[in-house]
Amino acid sequence: MTDASLWADRGAFLTHVELFVPSSLRPLARRGAPRPPPARAPHGPRALRTASALHLALDANDADAAAALIETSDAAALNTRSSSRVTPLLMLTMGRCTTQHAKARCEQLIWRVLERGGGASIAVRTKARLSAADHAERHQLSPRLVAHLRALEAAERARTAGERCEVCGDVFAHNKVAYAARRVASGEEENAMLLKFFSTSYHHKLLDPALHKLNELRTVRKELTESLAVLSALEDTPCSGGGPLSTPTRWHVVDIACGRGLTASLAALRYAGARVTAVDLNAPHIMPHWERTQECRVSYLQQDILGPAFLDAMARLEAESSSEAPARRDVAMLGMHLCGELSLRAIDAFELCRSAAVLVLSPCCLPAKGSEHAPDDLFASNQQIDQYHSWSAHLETLLRGRGYKVTRSVEKAMLSVKNVVLVATKVPKGPVAEVVLRVSLADDLAAACCRVSCDIQFVDRQSAT
Ligand SMILES: C[S@@+](CC[C@H](N)C(=O)[O-])C[C@H]1O[C@@H](n2cnc3c(N)ncnc32)[C@H](O)[C@@H]1O
Repeated sequence: MTDASLWADRGAFLTHVELFVPSSLRPLARRGAPRPPPARAPHGPRALRTASALHLALDANDADAAAALIETSDAAALNTRSSSRVTPLLMLTMGRCTTQHAKARCEQLIWRVLERGGGASIAVRTKARLSAADHAERHQLSPRLVAHLRALEAAERARTAGERCEVCGDVFAHNKVAYAARRVASGEEENAMLLKFFSTSYHHKLLDPALHKLNELRTVRKELTESLAVLSALEDTPCSGGGPLSTPTRWHVVDIACGRGLTASLAALRYAGARVTAVDLNAPHIMPHWERTQECRVSYLQQDILGPAFLDAMARLEAESSSEAPARRDVAMLGMHLCGELSLRAIDAFELCRSAAVLVLSPCCLPAKGSEHAPDDLFASNQQIDQYHSWSAHLETLLRGRGYKVTRSVEKAMLSVKNVVLVATKVPKGPVAEVVLRVSLADDLAAACCRVSCDIQFVDRQSAT
């Protein structure tokens, strides 16, 4: 079987489906609903950056304008999602155009949206995993309407059960990894890192349905190059006993601020036998279903990295891995595109964990100007790219200041201008103080020194000479 046919087969279960719009309406939906000229919505301009006129009217709680637009919109427009993936039906059930005295008006609009075909998106859920029926219930809309929405949602879910993830119920809507692989197979891909990655035998494991969240990454090529750059830097770092590639069972890889967990997933697939932990603030339901895979085992720790409990959580993680049988594991900390102070927290965690042998850090944006963490000279240039390089150099200096061996390189194959990779390793520390003792006192004092600090070494010059 050729690579291309392998891909075609493996990708079959994840064909692109746009379930929130019936197939008869898809061409229209792709073209999109008629959009107003770029406008700032009165509320939440970021959330509604891409929005139809109907979204904007609803966002403004303008029931009259919304009613008129519902009458003139076709079904595709009525089912359109905003950039934050919210449909008009969801907006109405979430309380738009609803005031204490105007629930009846809102319900009228909802019934009208449904009558005009705006219920094709009935099973779509908001980020909080709530559907239109859930929201309607929360907003105490009439029981008859709530029951109707629930029945429609159940029917839609039953109809599309085969195309949904059995864990989270989401539709397998994208297969971005297969798309990247097709580019390689067709000779279109030029990026050296991607060419190398797709020539390996483990990349197809990303197509596991349990990892479908990774397949939804819109810029998967870019993200792959970023994750691969971090792993490649880790593998190039000389580590005692070999790195995680040669002796994976001796390693615990911790992906700090892991995003959707692509780096952690690649580490788990690449270093079979290594322990892998991914840490982020993200709600667990948006992460890959790692617990459902055999080959990509990653533990997820939801944690505020800037919060007071982070370092304790890292210390606990380290304690677990350093007490593991048959041998303690060394920790490799990874931080891909850590924004602002997250880079500093990664450095603190690296310092705290004695068994952390290597930190691979690719910084992202700087802390805000004026922050105590970002000296003014980082902003000497007003070009963002210059500031980024100054910040990277600043982090390098910080790491060196803490006594680590550091390399800083620019990874050109990374599809990002933020392509600096810092690698810090711990060098064995020499004695902080030399204590010269008479032989008669040696035993007691040496024991005392050990109790004070491991960095104080007993040097018995007399017996050495
Ligand atoms: C630029 S993304 C990098 C994501 C990932 N490393 C990658 O390469 O795809 C920054 C990540 O930091 C996470 N984050 C931001 N603030 C955080 C915090 N205080 N605690 C934990 N994670 C945080 C965000 O959720 C996001 O996933």
